[in-house]
Amino acid sequence: MASSDELDQHFLVPDFPSAYQRKRYQRLLLCFSVLNFGFTLAAFSAFAYHIFRDGKNPSLSFPCFSSAKDTLIQESLVSPSRSNKEDTGMWPATSSRSEQTLTLSPVGTKLKTLKKPVVLLISSDGFRFGYHWKVPLPNIERLLVNGSECIPGLLPVYPTLTFPNHYSIATGLYPAWHGIIANKFTDPITNETFKMGVVDPKWWLGEPIWETVVKNGLVAATYFWPGSDVSKGAWNCTLPFCHLYNSSTPYEDRIDTVLGYFDLPDDEMPSFISLYFEEPDHTGHIVGPDDPHMDAAVTFVDQMLGRLLDGLDERGIFEDVNIILVSDHGMVGTCDTKVIYLEDFRPWINISAEWADTLTPMLALRPPAELSVEEVYQNMTEALSSGMVENSEFLKVYLKEELPSRLLYSSSERVEPIIGIVAEGYKIELSRSPNKECAGAHGYDNTALSMRAIFVAHGPLFAQGCKLESFANIEVYNIITRILKITGAANNGSSGFADSVLLPEA
Ligand SMILES: *[C@@H]1O[C@H](CO)[C@@H](O)[C@H](O)[C@H]1NC(C)=O
Ligand SMILES: *[C@@H]1O[C@H](CO)[C@@H](O)[C@H](O)[C@H]1NC(C)=O
Ligand SMILES: *[C@@H]1O[C@H](CO)[C@@H](O)[C@H](O)[C@H]1NC(C)=O
Ligand SMILES: *[C@@H]1O[C@H](CO)[C@@H](O)[C@H](O)[C@H]1NC(C)=O
Ligand SMILES: *[C@@H]1O[C@H](CO)[C@@H](O)[C@H](O)[C@H]1NC(C)=O
Ligand SMILES: *[C@@H]1O[C@H](CO)[C@@H](O)[C@H](O)[C@H]1NC(C)=O
Ligand SMILES: *[C@@H]1O[C@H](CO)[C@@H](O)[C@H](O)[C@H]1NC(C)=O
Repeated sequence: MASSDELDQHFLVPDFPSAYQRKRYQRLLLCFSVLNFGFTLAAFSAFAYHIFRDGKNPSLSFPCFSSAKDTLIQESLVSPSRSNKEDTGMWPATSSRSEQTLTLSPVGTKLKTLKKPVVLLISSDGFRFGYHWKVPLPNIERLLVNGSECIPGLLPVYPTLTFPNHYSIATGLYPAWHGIIANKFTDPITNETFKMGVVDPKWWLGEPIWETVVKNGLVAATYFWPGSDVSKGAWNCTLPFCHLYNSSTPYEDRIDTVLGYFDLPDDEMPSFISLYFEEPDHTGHIVGPDDPHMDAAVTFVDQMLGRLLDGLDERGIFEDVNIILVSDHGMVGTCDTKVIYLEDFRPWINISAEWADTLTPMLALRPPAELSVEEVYQNMTEALSSGMVENSEFLKVYLKEELPSRLLYSSSERVEPIIGIVAEGYKIELSRSPNKECAGAHGYDNTALSMRAIFVAHGPLFAQGCKLESFANIEVYNIITRILKITGAANNGSSGFADSVLLPEA
């Protein structure tokens, strides 16, 4: 039998962005992969330049590395000019892209107005990497032109679902260790069920960043984030610095409340603030990521971001705040022809809907105790190889222990004994129905490029115009603790990573 990892190759579809897009964005793919070296070199060059220019204000082209070859690229960074849209009616216009040589500082900038570092962590749910390449988003552009961006995107954790990923960003832990292994699951010991919105702390393992912040004696505020309304350890979710989740709260209210935190006296002002928007995930599920309606959804998020950035600008603190805009996962189009029906398995195994903690696009099955997991798995495998299950080649079923190790998913007892991984864009349904729909989904293998999220960061410690290589979202926790100069809890981030994406203190 082929090993799990071999079987899994099937799902690795690296052909995104397309060759065309890749060529178009080749010049944008200027990354640091050996950042420490880059910064050292930058610091040295700045110093040399400084001496050379007889003490004139030091400025230099920041050295970036190409992701492909780690070769030093000293050429100018590319700044897409939105005025090109008027010129050509197209965006981005490859021929008329304006280029500028950014002058960059090799060290972070000093705070001008704020008395202490502040991190504003924003999530735009389901913002697939690349939406900002489809439509002009001037406010996200404001962040990324003078900040740092991950290309092609932030790597989500498996499964690429909302709660596991948000809580991985907050804790720096993979789901198997932070306990939120899906949006819905059953505890095998107590038989109790976790669902989105359950705030009982027993489900939420690990130490989320807001708890870390208050443990370090600083103030934290959350205006929504999965897990933020869970009172646990040093964190007590009470007003005015924590809000119980209410999806009807207008984005304007969330933003204005967050801006209000910056009007507080220095000792009351939060050092960490989270902010969460449901869009464009909501629209993406309904219409699919490539539908023209997505433009309006991401434009709306961008406008809301504009309200926030303008508010910071008015307070003279836009340059002082470390703004980290992320998403939890991407989105892929689904359609009625791309379905695997559980009813097709019936001659081999009658799979009950009740066994499925999650049905699609991760099939997470916990058969009843009186059935042998091994036998259920064997019968499913036989069904899949029988040729009688439609689209069977797009579902791979694993015993939990045999899941590809790169998913880092098996270590939690909460993970169901049988996990099916559905190929990108496919879905599982119980039986055929007359309902026909095309829509959008996520939850697939985290290596799928359609599942990539965004990381766009701007602030005193983020290098200007910098394109970073993709990294896993579990690294974000250490980036925040490093900015706030606080001690974090043990987590799955790699040591030294935060130092490689943040500028040294001014
Ligand atoms: C980037 O920063 C420069 C200098 O601070 C400013 O003039 C420019 O408008 C900024 N670019 C964007 C897109 O905000
Ligand atoms: C949980 O369910 C299993 C199987 O259905 C049963 O054997 C066990 O007693 C239940 N545990 C509790 C705590 O109810
Ligand atoms: C949380 O704060 C409220 C109001 O200040 C207080 O009554 C409550 O005891 C606190 N709970 C915990 C678990 O600290
Ligand atoms: C949720 O927010 C809406 C809009 O602000 C408000 O009308 C509603 O009362 C809130 N619901 C709860 C339970 O607070
Ligand atoms: C699995 O298949 C075997 C025969 O192929 C059958 O006897 C058995 O009942 C099936 N198991 C379940 C749980 O349906
Ligand atoms: C599953 O149920 C169908 C009837 O609904 C039955 O014909 C079939 O034999 C069952 N399969 C197994 C493996 O028990
Ligand atoms: C993740 O971090 C936890 C807590 O430090 C640790 O127990 C676990 O082994 C780590 N997992 C991996 C894959 O590194």
